[in-house]
Amino acid sequence: MAALVPMLAAAPGAGPFDPDDDAAYRAWRERKLADYRPDLAARPVEVGDPRALTAAERGALLDRCRVANMVVYASAARGADKEMLRRFGLQFSLASLDRNWLADDDGISQVKVAAGGGRGDFIPYTNRPIRWHTDGYYNPPERRIRAMVLHCVENAAEGGENALLDPEIAYLQLRDEDPAHVRALARDDAMTIPERTDEDGVARPAQRGPVFSVDPATGHLHMRYTARTRSIEWHPDGAVRAAVAALERLLATPSPYIHRLTLAPGMGILCNNVLHDRTGFTDDPSRPRLILRARYHERVGDAGPAATAAPAIARAGAHRA
Ligand SMILES: [Fe+2]
Repeated sequence: MAALVPMLAAAPGAGPFDPDDDAAYRAWRERKLADYRPDLAARPVEVGDPRALTAAERGALLDRCRVANMVVYASAARGADKEMLRRFGLQFSLASLDRNWLADDDGISQVKVAAGGGRGDFIPYTNRPIRWHTDGYYNPPERRIRAMVLHCVENAAEGGENALLDPEIAYLQLRDEDPAHVRALARDDAMTIPERTDEDGVARPAQRGPVFSVDPATGHLHMRYTARTRSIEWHPDGAVRAAVAALERLLATPSPYIHRLTLAPGMGILCNNVLHDRTGFTDDPSRPRLILRARYHERVGDAGPAATAAPAIARAGAHRA
């Protein structure tokens, strides 16, 4: 209990992600590196039915998410079953699906190569590589993406590998290199995504905001980032530019904390919107790559047994009606 006293006495907003609170950062850093075993984050957890996990399966997924903000699972589930994915998320308190104009009506997207209809203009719906990013970096704050599930229905004939990096590790490595980096990337005007226009005018207004921010309600770190070089404006300040360059170097350097994997059918990633990229790929036309993607406004949490059984079934019934 004695350890709580300095935290309670600290200034509002102080904590491990406050550049001025070195003591809290040091304590958090030590704990993070002690707990984070890279093999745990990368090695898939075998699960039976993603709709109804056993207590042991759910516990194993939650434990890894708490440490690494991500976990890879492998299941025997086959087919593009959105209801399965929705029920999987509910077991982790993931209920607020982010709906965007490219997602299907129920807020779960089928990410695959699209021939036309607007989606083909966006890289996720092509077979081209996607650079490092967190999801929803162009969203307004009220639609912040805090968690995500990617579930593989079909993999590509070749390629389609993902790399994953816990944003807390990226923060830690940047702060260790130079605390000025995380200070610069916490500026409210660090990164601006310009407005997107279509034939009707402004389809999405410009979004200006920080790369690193702290959720005032929970104290969790949030990262908003894209390595894209077009349609992005970094603040011209020298410290911001230096921090962005340091982050780019970090992401380009092999590290035990950067996990690379190619999802196979039935496998998926449950995460607190970690940094990720994707290599380009070649489809087998008879079974093109298909990833179901659910993005949520909550973080991965412990729904508890009472919140996963009956309500999930009730919701499933309502959904079908
Ligand atoms: Fe993404």
